[in-house]
Amino acid sequence: MELGLGSKHALVTGSTAGIGYAIAKGLAAEGAHVVLTGRTQAGIDAALKRLRDSVPEAKVTGIAADCATAEGADAVFARVPELDVLVNNLGIYGRKPAFEIDDGEWRRFFEVNVMSGIRFTRHYAPGMARRGWGRVLFVSSESALNIPPEMIHYGMTKTAQLSVSHGFAMELAGTGVTVNALLPGPTHTENTDRLRAERAKAAGVTVAEIEAAFLRDHRPTSLIRRFTSADEVAALGVYLCSEAASGTSGAAMRVDGGVVNQIM
Ligand SMILES: NC(=O)c1ccc[n+]([C@@H]2O[C@H](COP(=O)([O-])OP(=O)(O)OC[C@H]3O[C@@H](n4cnc5c(N)ncnc54)[C@H](OP(=O)(O)O)[C@@H]3O)[C@@H](O)[C@H]2O)c1
Repeated sequence: MELGLGSKHALVTGSTAGIGYAIAKGLAAEGAHVVLTGRTQAGIDAALKRLRDSVPEAKVTGIAADCATAEGADAVFARVPELDVLVNNLGIYGRKPAFEIDDGEWRRFFEVNVMSGIRFTRHYAPGMARRGWGRVLFVSSESALNIPPEMIHYGMTKTAQLSVSHGFAMELAGTGVTVNALLPGPTHTENTDRLRAERAKAAGVTVAEIEAAFLRDHRPTSLIRRFTSADEVAALGVYLCSEAASGTSGAAMRVDGGVVNQIM
């Protein structure tokens, strides 16, 4: 399938590792000019090297800025005035008992996971609309629909992203700009692998046992009965950013291994 990404300029927030890196790599492999973002220059340099080793023909650059803050966003906007493809990937997660989540933590999760994507979309989407073509993708989660009891503040932000992405899609109706949300399920990323390794060590069990217990106790509806890879998630993400996906806007597309137990 021709994805038509060859001449496009793309930026992925929080893309030095994990799903964001995998989407950036996938876009670069399709010939797009890709901008990586991360908080430190060292992280950017390492990600650029890794991506160029993996996709030697990649047209990729990086910006060290914290996309979770308004100041960091402004630093990115100053360096990259226009985009064709925006992937609002940056997001944080972490287990916390519901009654122990204080005001600051509720606000921090909202600020990082929701406001970041709003700021970037508000900045870049009007230009896409003026030029008659654009793609905005919010990386949400199956946790938007299956609120995880072990981190309801995270679930709140992922549900909010569905409202925000659908709302922007409506605002951009007829402009040639699509806005969609991607809903990964449990995914192997460097960060989640590290967290599971720590949990396994603390419990005196293997990582495989931790993963099996997680799927059994927390995601029993999984149809693939395993974690996805970041590249599996990126495959749908890259498609949604492409010309080929021109008929899809305002949608929430799952790559959750069937965790959400519903047909639509
Ligand atoms: N992993 C999963 O199982 C899973 C499942 C469903 C949905 N998702 C969603 O997918 C997205 C990516 O998840 P991921 O697991 O791939 O992410 P991740 O690896 O934890 O983080 C991706 C990047 O974000 C940057 N980052 C991390 N914390 C940050 C913070 N507090 N402020 C600013 N930047 C920060 C880091 O770059 P620097 O350190 O270089 O700044 C990191 O490379 C998120 O929106 C998440 O909710 C993930």
